[in-house]
Amino acid sequence: MSPDTRILRALREAGEGGVSGAALAKDLGVSRAAVWNRIEELRRHGYDIEASPHLGYILRGTPDALHGDDLMARLPRNRVLGRDIRVFTETTSTNDIVEKLARDGVAEGSVVFAETQTKGRGRMGRQWFSPSGSGLWFSVLLRPKLRPSSATQLTVLSAVAVVRAIERETGLKPEIKWPNDIMFGHRKVAGILLELGAELDRIRHATLGIGIDVNLDPASMPPEVREVATSLSHEAQRPMDRAGLATAVLRELDHLYQRLGEGDFHEIGDDWMRRCSTLGRRVAITIGDRRITGRAEALDDEGALLVRTDYGTVERVIGGDVTQEKLP
Ligand code: BTN
Repeated sequence: MSPDTRILRALREAGEGGVSGAALAKDLGVSRAAVWNRIEELRRHGYDIEASPHLGYILRGTPDALHGDDLMARLPRNRVLGRDIRVFTETTSTNDIVEKLARDGVAEGSVVFAETQTKGRGRMGRQWFSPSGSGLWFSVLLRPKLRPSSATQLTVLSAVAVVRAIERETGLKPEIKWPNDIMFGHRKVAGILLELGAELDRIRHATLGIGIDVNLDPASMPPEVREVATSLSHEAQRPMDRAGLATAVLRELDHLYQRLGEGDFHEIGDDWMRRCSTLGRRVAITIGDRRITGRAEALDDEGALLVRTDYGTVERVIGGDVTQEKLP
């Protein structure tokens, strides 16, 4: 753990009570002057840290910019996700960086955020609009013990984690649209892109990319994006705390990933079904040049969507693009 993570963690734990320079110096094994230097550096990054003669240092405010040290400081109990968190000012796609970490043999749980992506990508080869400082664009490196055919479980789990975190942090209630779009009505607020490094029977690594439109003004979106997208700040009509939401998502993801590892996909799938607007609806799903129409009925044990087609058969669907309508 870096010195800044330790300082920020100690400040958060101490709250209004403050933490003394002497205690921090002892914890870090450095002089009080060295602690003071780190505090000054954090202040330069926008952390509002009061030095009280009686109580010591008190954290009064944090900047909107994301900092890996601070995000890690906020996740003391995470088991896997967030062991290492890096924040880039700009990158092509956070999935590219994580892909590289995976090839370098880095352990699972590393998370990469970018304030902006120049080549953010979505599903089906689409671009992902990722303007600076207003969203959460991040990717997680996982090495799950799953067969490639069960990889959909990871996107199901992630959609549940994102929705739970949004609810907890903002009070808003988004829904999930198959396979993993997070929606308010017919507008999308967040998306998930899972990319796999796999052999026939084994996932070597999974790169889980998540994009959440947090404080974007729809007026600033390109017209084709504005038609289908929204943001949390627009839905709630107030700005949102990006770092708070980021840590809430990572906490939920860590918890659900552990449940998945313990074989508890059922519960996660049940929660997904409760939050999913696609089930019970008439759907048309396009997969390449194939089109399936019917009624979306349930999620199966591997995370695939079960659709009762117009011919009465049941199809297992694990991807594709969905249009959905209310049943007449
Ligand atoms: C989709 O709904 O089409 C998936 C969108 C995924 C976007 C995120 S942003 C962080 C990560 N990096 C990318 O290039 N894409 C994902």
